[in-house]
Amino acid sequence: MTALLEVEDLRVAYGKIEAVKGISFKVEAGEVVTLIGTNGAGKTTTLRTLSGLLKPVGGQIKFNGKSLKKTPAHEIVQLGLAHSPEGRHIFPRMTIEDNLRLGAFLRSDRSGIEKDIQRAYDLFPILGERRKQAAGTLSGGEQQMLAMGRALMSQPKLLMLDEPSMGLSPIMMQKIMATIAELKSQGTTILLVEQNAQAALSLADHGHVMEVGNVVLSGTGQDLLHDESVRKAYLGED
Ligand SMILES: Nc1ncnc2c1ncn2[C@@H]1O[C@H](COP(=O)(O)OP(=O)(O)OP(=O)(O)O)[C@@H](O)[C@H]1O
Ligand SMILES: [Mg+2]
Repeated sequence: MTALLEVEDLRVAYGKIEAVKGISFKVEAGEVVTLIGTNGAGKTTTLRTLSGLLKPVGGQIKFNGKSLKKTPAHEIVQLGLAHSPEGRHIFPRMTIEDNLRLGAFLRSDRSGIEKDIQRAYDLFPILGERRKQAAGTLSGGEQQMLAMGRALMSQPKLLMLDEPSMGLSPIMMQKIMATIAELKSQGTTILLVEQNAQAALSLADHGHVMEVGNVVLSGTGQDLLHDESVRKAYLGED
């Protein structure tokens, strides 16, 4: 069986600067896979390339057996790859509900869309309570929930989350991580980029450690969580 996502020798550059230098990894259906690594390692660049927002200079991306190399971003969403970007990018003046609807812009099944809006409210009750309010009135953590809910509105086969816990209080972070675990238990396949290595590895099936554009270590979430070099570099132990 082929994996849902197969990335092989992927290289991405900004002008002459190569930010991703030939990385390979797979995501099997139903898995949570995490990319961890220091600032500037190339994690966001990798996700933006998978979404079609950046074009690779080399390597292969296969999603559901199909090469994404020449596929435009909106078709990639249609194929089932959704992206909740770093820094959220919600629309602050639009209502929470309209932000969610934007995530379904390629769908025309109205009753399915209504059902999925309800599902987002079940997952994040605060969004339902405040559905008619401007999204800019939400707290940082609530905006993160909205960004995740919006990404789910495209009914993705693979959900990519870029630093969902960034800038959140410990309680809010736990909430977001619990939601990711819940989505996983419902069968959602997730590619998770996180600075919080402990939280990400704890719930990931597999993880890859990135440093300056390369994957330097791969393993199961548990293996990496207990790896001495990972503990020293990313979990603050000496
Ligand atoms: N638009 C751009 N133009 C030029 N260089 C860029 C651009 N975006 C990112 N880079 C560079 O590419 C490298 C990888 O950046 P990227 O944002 O992918 O890292 P990251 O792993 O997501 O880091 P962080 O954890 O800080 O979010 C960095 O050296 C960064 O400065
Ligand atoms: Mg980043």
